[in-house]
Amino acid sequence: MELLLPGPACEASYRQAIEEYARAGLSPTCFFGGAERCPDVLFARFADYRAGRDLPAGYVPCTSLWLVDGDEFLAEVSIRHRLTPALERFGGHIGYAVRAGRWGQGLGTKLLAGALDYARGTLGLSWVLLTCADGNTGSARVIEKNGGVLLDKLDDVIGGRPRVTRRYRIEL
Ligand SMILES: CC(C)(COP(=O)(O)OP(=O)(O)OC[C@H]1O[C@@H](n2cnc3c(N)ncnc32)[C@H](O)[C@@H]1OP(=O)(O)O)[C@@H](O)C(=O)NCCC(=O)NCCS
Repeated sequence: MELLLPGPACEASYRQAIEEYARAGLSPTCFFGGAERCPDVLFARFADYRAGRDLPAGYVPCTSLWLVDGDEFLAEVSIRHRLTPALERFGGHIGYAVRAGRWGQGLGTKLLAGALDYARGTLGLSWVLLTCADGNTGSARVIEKNGGVLLDKLDDVIGGRPRVTRRYRIEL
């Protein structure tokens, strides 16, 4: 298993994972490139975000990595290079999703561990902020198993809906 920049070898499997999410009634936008149908646009989008090119207003550069096994796509993590006031409340430095058919096999824990190595080694960060919905037990466990210390729980309104967000800090 490897954590790599997104590449064409796993593209077909990535698209299957997006369909798997839709079939399970989950939002395929959990996967960063979920909306892109065209391969050229998909990979250009990842590269632009990494380089901080043509970002939508208020966005910061971010690197997405895929956890893969051969040509099978397993999970995606996106690491924002810095925080904004909005990300400090919701989103944090790192977001991730494991393909639906592979939950509960330790992949989320492994994925975040790899992302933390990248944040420290490649981006030079000394700590990261992670957030998750208060009720997302799986995500909270993934963060805690990687050394996350709960800072607080914020009462917020996101997309017009009330939401409690857990905020964790991990020292790198
Ligand atoms: C959250 C998510 C990443 C977890 O990935 P995963 O590969 O299933 O996690 P792991 O197998 O590494 O499990 C880590 C821990 O969480 C627990 N866990 C995982 N899913 C759980 C669930 N739904 N309810 C309760 N505990 C759960 C596991 O039992 C394990 O704990 P343990 O070692 O104490 O037994 C995955 O469910 C997912 O992609 N969800 C949709 C996207 C998402 O919510 N992303 C996070 C946004 S903040």
